[in-house]
Parts: sequence; C-alpha cells; structure tokens
Amino acid sequence: MSLIEETDYGTPAVRSDKTVTLTIDGVQVRVPEGTSVMRAAKELGTTIPKLCATDSVAAFGSCRLCLVEIEGRAGTPASCTTPVAEGMVVATQTPKLAKLRRGVMELYISDHPLDCLTCAANGDCELQDMAGAVGLREVRYGYEGANHLTAAKDASNPYFTYDASKCIVCSRCVRACEEVQGTFALTISGRGFGSRVSPGQSEAFMTSECVSCGACVQACPTATLTETRVIEIGQPEHSAITTCAYCGVGCTFKAEMRGEELVRMVPWKDGKANRGHSCVKGRFAWGYATHRERVTEPMIRSSIDEPWKVVSWDEAIAHTASEFRRIQAKYGRDSIGGITSSRCTNEETYLVQKLVRAAFGNHNVDTCARVCHSPTGYGLKTTFGTSAGTQDFDSVAQTDVMVVIGANPTDAHPVFASRMKKRLREGARLIVIDPRRIDLVRSTHVEADHHLALRPGTNVAVLTAMAHVIVTEGLVDETYVRERCDLQAYAHWAEFVTLPQHSPEATEAVTGVPAADLRAAARLYATGGAGAIYYGLGVTEHSQGSTTVMAIANLAMATGNIGRPGVGVNPLRGQNNVQGACDMGSFPHEFSGYRHVSEDETRHLFEQAWGVALGAEPGLRIPNMLDEAVAGAFKGIYIQGEDILQSDPNTKHVAAGLAAMECVVVQDLFLNETANYAHVFLPGSTFLEKDGTFTNAERRIQRVRRVMRPRNGYADWEITQKLSNALGYPMDYAHPSQIMDEIARLTPTFAGVSFDRLDALGSIQWPCNDAAPEGTPVMHIDHFVRGKGQFILTEYVPTEEKVGPRYPLLLTTGRILSQYNVGAQTRRTENSRWHEEDVLEIHPHDAEERGVRDGEWVRLKSRSGETALRAKVTDRVAPGVVYTTFHHPLTQANVITTDYSDWATNCPEYKVTAVQVSRGNGPVEWQVEYSEQSRKSRRIEAAE
Ligand code: SF4
Ligand code: SF4
Ligand code: SF4
Ligand code: FES
Repeated sequence: MSLIEETDYGTPAVRSDKTVTLTIDGVQVRVPEGTSVMRAAKELGTTIPKLCATDSVAAFGSCRLCLVEIEGRAGTPASCTTPVAEGMVVATQTPKLAKLRRGVMELYISDHPLDCLTCAANGDCELQDMAGAVGLREVRYGYEGANHLTAAKDASNPYFTYDASKCIVCSRCVRACEEVQGTFALTISGRGFGSRVSPGQSEAFMTSECVSCGACVQACPTATLTETRVIEIGQPEHSAITTCAYCGVGCTFKAEMRGEELVRMVPWKDGKANRGHSCVKGRFAWGYATHRERVTEPMIRSSIDEPWKVVSWDEAIAHTASEFRRIQAKYGRDSIGGITSSRCTNEETYLVQKLVRAAFGNHNVDTCARVCHSPTGYGLKTTFGTSAGTQDFDSVAQTDVMVVIGANPTDAHPVFASRMKKRLREGARLIVIDPRRIDLVRSTHVEADHHLALRPGTNVAVLTAMAHVIVTEGLVDETYVRERCDLQAYAHWAEFVTLPQHSPEATEAVTGVPAADLRAAARLYATGGAGAIYYGLGVTEHSQGSTTVMAIANLAMATGNIGRPGVGVNPLRGQNNVQGACDMGSFPHEFSGYRHVSEDETRHLFEQAWGVALGAEPGLRIPNMLDEAVAGAFKGIYIQGEDILQSDPNTKHVAAGLAAMECVVVQDLFLNETANYAHVFLPGSTFLEKDGTFTNAERRIQRVRRVMRPRNGYADWEITQKLSNALGYPMDYAHPSQIMDEIARLTPTFAGVSFDRLDALGSIQWPCNDAAPEGTPVMHIDHFVRGKGQFILTEYVPTEEKVGPRYPLLLTTGRILSQYNVGAQTRRTENSRWHEEDVLEIHPHDAEERGVRDGEWVRLKSRSGETALRAKVTDRVAPGVVYTTFHHPLTQANVITTDYSDWATNCPEYKVTAVQVSRGNGPVEWQVEYSEQSRKSRRIEAAE
C-alpha cells in the first residue's frame, strides 16, 4: 500500500462549450476556452514549476515561478494567470526560464529555514520540490540581513499550527479561506517585507473567526500551516478513500495512515459531495476512535443496579439470544424489537432490520429518522412519489434563488454551506425562513434578501401564505403545472390557498412575519429564475412536520422548480447515513426501497429470499415500543448505535420504558446514556474499522473503507450476524459487499449497485438500475416518480403547545458546528474547546425582564420538566424566543420538550416548547442526581 496521489492542475477547471487548440513544447492540446496555460500543460502531463497556484483557488500570479515563453509575445508571462488562445505556441522549458526560476527560488530559500531534515513537511513540501525542480544548487545571499527565521508560531488551534518562519506569503491560505470556505478569516497584513498571514485583526487562530475547516492547511505549499498530528507523529505512508461518518453531506476523505495509526483525514478532490473541502468535524474530530473511554469488550449484568461484568463475545451473544428467546416464549413473538443506526453502514442497518424481521419474526424495527426526517419520507412520497431529495449538491451552482427554511447549514452541513455561500457570492439571491438569525442571514459577502423570522411552529402558515401570493398574483408556472401535475388536485389547492385567511396580511398576526416581506419573498422565489429549497429539522420536527414538507413541495411544483439542475426540494439530512437507514427498510411499515409490508408481491419476494413467513401488518414505532414497555407487553430491545435516552423526546418516558424491559441490548462505542438502562453492552466499531457504504442527503451511495482492525474485534455487521446465528436464523456473509448484492437483488432502486461499480464510479446516486446504470443526480426530470405531481391542501393547525402567563417564551433547538448530535463522539475530541456546554440564547429584552445576565445560570422550565444551563444574551433570537443545542447529556434538552409529535409520522415536536426562564444558581436537583446515577451505572466489576 502507498499514499494515493492527487494531481494538482494549478488552476481550477473551466466550464465552456468552446475549445481552444494550442501547442505546448511542440505538442498540441485542446482545452476549454478560459483554461490557463498552466492547466493546459498539466493536462498534457507537463508540470510547470509553481508555488502560489493550486487548483482549488483562482490564480493570483504572485510568485513568478511559473513563467513561460509564448511565441509573438514579449516577456515571460505567468502561466497560471495567462489564458490559452487559439494557435498559441508555448515553451515551458528554456535556458532563459530556467535562470529566471532559479533566481526566484534563490530569493525564497534565502529567507527560509534550512531545516528540511527535521521539518514536519519533509517529503510533502512544494517549496522543497520546486527547489529540486528548478535545479537550485546554491544560495548566494546570506542570512545576515533582516529575515523571518525567528518569527513566532501560533499553536493556539488544537488541530494545526501556523509557523510564520516558513511562510512564503503566497496567499494560497487566504484565498482558500475566502473562495473554498467562505469565512474570510485570513488576510495578508503589512506590506513588502513585513507581509504576513493574519487571522482576524492580527489575532490568534483560536480567537479569530476561523472555523477550523482546514482549507488553508490543505492549500499551504510549505510547512507553515501543518496538522498538529503530522508534527507529532510524522508523515503518513499509505492511504485509503473513505467517507466522513458525521453529517449527511457525506464528504469523501483520504484517510492517511502510518501502519494502523490514522495520521490525518485529507478531503478528497474527486469527492462529488465535497469537491475537496471539509469541516472541523470530518477533517479533525476523529480522536474519539481511540479515546480511553471507548469500550472494547462485551459486558452483561442481570440488573441495571449492578456493575457491569466483562464477558467473552461468545458468552455475550449466547446470553442475549437466550434472553430474547426466553422473553418471546413468555410474552409472545412481538415482545421484542430493534433499532437500526443512522451512523452505521447501509449493510449494517439492512442486517438489523433483517434480524428483526427474519429472526425475531416481527416488524418491530425503527430508526432515529423517526425523530428527525420521517416527515420528509411521508411528505415527499405523497407529493412526488419518492422519499428523498430531488437534486445533487452540484446543482446549487446553477441556482438563482435559494430558500433556506428551518436549517442552519453553516453549523449543521458546513461543507455544503460553503458551496451555497460561493454561489451567493456569485450573485444568487437568498430567502431565509427561520426564527433565529442564522449565519447565512448575514456574514462576510453574504446577505439574505429576505429573512422571515417567523414564530416557531408557524411554518405551514408562512408557506401557505407564500402560495397565496404566487397564485393570486398570477406567478404560477401554468405550463409546468398543466404538463406535470394532477390538475384536479392543483385546482383544489389553488382555490384553497386563494382564500383570504391565507393571505400574508391575514397570517401576519400568527406568524409574526410582516406581510410585505412575505410577499416580496414569494415573488422572488417565483420569478427569480431557478429556485431551490433547502430545509432541515426546523421543518420536520413539528406537529405539522409532514404538512410543512408537502407545503414546500406544493410551492416547488407551482413554480416549476422541480426536475432540472439548479432547482428542487432538498432535505438536509442530519446524520451521515440517515438517508441510507431509511432506504434500507428500517421503518416498521416498509421493506428496503420504501415498499409497504402489506404489498403482497414485495412481501413474497422477501419471504422467498429469506426463507421465512412475514406479516402484512406494520410493527411498532419507537414511541409505541416504549409505550408498550411501560404497559408491560414489550420486554426486550436491540439498539445499534443510537442513544435514545438522549435523542428521543420526553426523557422520563424513555427512561421508564427502558427500565420496564427485561433485556436491553446496547451496541455502541461508548457507554452512552441509554446504556444506563442496558443489561447487555456489545462494543461497536468505528467507520475506520469496517467496510460498507453510507448514503448522503443527495442519495449518493459512497464507500466506507476499513483502514484499521476493529478494536472491539468485530465490525457491527459481524456482531448482528453472530446474534442472528445464535437465535437460530443463519446468516453467513463473508463481506459487506455480499450484503449489498442481496440489497441490490431485492430493491429495484438499488438494482445496479455493487461494490465493484462503486469502486469504478466513485459513488452512485440511487435510483441505479438498467434505466440509470450510473445513477440519478436529478430526479423527476420528465415526470414525477408517482406519475403526476400531487398538490396537497395544507391547513395550518396551530400546535397544542401554547405560550401563556406561566410559560411565555418559545424554546427551539438546533446544532452547533463543532459538536455533533448527542455529542458522544465530538465531546471526546478537542472540539469541546469550542463548545464545552449547551447554553441558552435569550434576547436582551427577555433577559433584562428576568434579571438574567450573560454567562449566568438560568432555570429553563416547561410543562414537561426543568433543566438548568448558562445564558447567552444575544439578539440572534427574536424577543419571545429562546434557543439551545442538545449536545451535552447534562443539559438534557429533551427533559423540557413535550410529547407532541407530527400527525403523520410521530416525529417529535422538538422545535416548539413553551417555557419560562428564571435566574438559577447551578444545576437543578435531577441533574446532580443524574450525574451520580450515571456514574454508578457505568461501574465495571474489577477483573479477578
Ligand atoms: S481553517 Fe478554514 S476558516 Fe480557519 S483560517 Fe483556515 S480556511 Fe479559514
Ligand atoms: S501560510 Fe502557507 S499558504 Fe499561507 S501564505 Fe504562508 S506559505 Fe502561503
Ligand atoms: S460537512 Fe459533514 S460530512 Fe463533511 S466533513 Fe463536515 S461533518 Fe463530515
Ligand atoms: S504559480 Fe504562477 S505566479 Fe505563482
């Protein structure tokens, strides 16, 4: 094995229908018009020496190393900034150029430490390479004069170091921060000799607005910006291409290794979701994989009050199987169930639902999408016919108007947010619909045209009012609707949205959105060109989550914004494989590919393949499993990679349900909060330790590749397989590729997917079958999957959760960039330096009324419960609204949230809770008790 090399073409690729033919060093080449001479040469295989150019950012032309001679032109132009021209004749290697280049290099080297042998970048330094490439043999200038050799280091960032003594002021980092990441955290301060890279206002990286995405580190050609890990342990020696295991963007990385030790994760340029970019989580926050708290041996206990006992894998599996069979014998076949993980691979989730259906003999399987995007499945299937986003991420480059509703991409989907920001800087327009002033509303060089700061819980009223404007002002794309949609349903809908009670003026009092703003936003979406809607959990986690998804789909159909690049309806999926978990049949009513268990043909297909009889009635959803547990009928559960105690609503009810069960089996990396109620703990494996696939938010199936042996001994799919065999239902897969082959055989939308094809194509967006052998980037092109697009009436039904004198504020929740979900992974990395605890954002007016000051403890109380956390006084939230994140178990935001849920899917209403905030003086009683109980529950019996 060796390191996978990537080609740097020097300048970005250019898209143009016109091509130009030129001659470079006597060889003809044809390239798109606008391509640089440097890139054209590289396409031919000719490398022109360079330092300030790299193909992730526009050329700058400062180092003067890439000079060439062009027939008929005076001087020696820089090849990185010179575009090709028809008939151009270029020479890249002449004695004159060689001399000039050596002179340039001599100047650079004369102000550069000559410590190559002990430098962290030795062997991976473009300055070193270029000195060799131009044949520099001596440096005539001494080090006596002024130089930068003793310039200070900035090691404030835990993940990378800035060593100013090695900086050649090429500004690649500055341009990467601007063009790739869009944060504009860096500048070159000073002039001439005094020039230096400067974060923020000459601050340290850690205190500047830098978000640690790593783009500057990636772009730096020297050791100036280097990963701390490389400095500590040295350069990697082999690598593999894999997929980030954090969010639904699905960034591709090169995992660079030394033996079985991960040295760094480098974003992969050919990754179609990320195009070479990364965020702080995927790039740097993987230290949890080797964290000391990771559990690597199976454990059992007969009661949750007892300490854990470490046992062998055989004993743990045999014990689990015998407990599950005992429970079924006593309480019936339906008394047990399972939960699949959106963090695990497709193959692993498929296997868990197969275990439940074939070995447990029921459909009691569910997944965490229940609490996040189940309304997306319902809403998009009803309107379009497919439970998934319509576009690929590349599509955003052709979008003219973006609508972002109930999503905060810069924190939750940061790499895609950078692509959005790039398009916005190019001139696309932006509408943000969110109670909170998220970063996209206003950040460097990005400003939303409209921010509709609606009251939490009023999405449907706002979207229906937008539809009212579009219909009553004659902005409907009538040709599209006539050709593509069900006309009767459209007519009903148009009549419905036209009703006066849906006008922006009528809904303003409920939504809090000024009618004029809403009208302007609706007009912009309908008439501004290609319009794309991006949404997140701020849409789905409501009692009207499914209605809101359908309201979004209605708007897109009415304006003809479905079925071509640049438009579409795009759910931004939270977890890395939540799309895949849903695709794989993790819901109690569906087999893989979203086919209902009551469909005879489908059921018979699975019965035949699996050799078991399958029921036609759906099984239990997670909330029903917990209800049944409390009622005494549901007694055992297998939970793979999910912390339902922390992530599901109404913590007390979840705890009561788990406590009422006789066998709770948790399979995870750490003793999570749910494991406090477990009887069996099966240690899980990380994404670095297994093969498989994840499916991201754009339906893109991508390979996960094993780069180290599982520390716990087995990949998660192997553990499920062992359990199935112990239960008497045989499974004998030798490799996850065989599981994918079975999925492809049984799932029409995956029919063309195999590991071989994934290896050949890099990634595939489903549907992938005979009709689309390379996958489907954009869906519903000529017709909707369901045939005609279906308009649905979206009556606004206010949530039953109401503010009143006792609970006058509305709490809404979300994520922060540095942490991920319940924080089990990111809290065990240096990312906690950015976010040590959850805080409550409160408007200055509301804070003052309550005598609350910034940084002080406050009590947060709802009808369901109470918790305490520190306050952050900010006008990012409107008066009357408070906001917090849910990354830390001690805060347990879900103690506060209510039992209300989406009418169609049971997705909990996390985004609207009526609360009161008062001054506090530290954690409340249950938080103190909980910490103690949690500590007790984690005791492990000392080895004999
Ligand atoms: S890490 Fe990212 S945000 Fe920070 S300075 Fe570098 S490019 Fe900019
Ligand atoms: S830090 Fe690196 S990329 Fe930035 S100017 Fe210096 S050498 Fe160039
Ligand atoms: S954007 Fe998401 S997938 Fe990409 S690196 Fe960050 S966490 Fe990973
Ligand atoms: S690489 Fe062209 S001027 Fe630096």
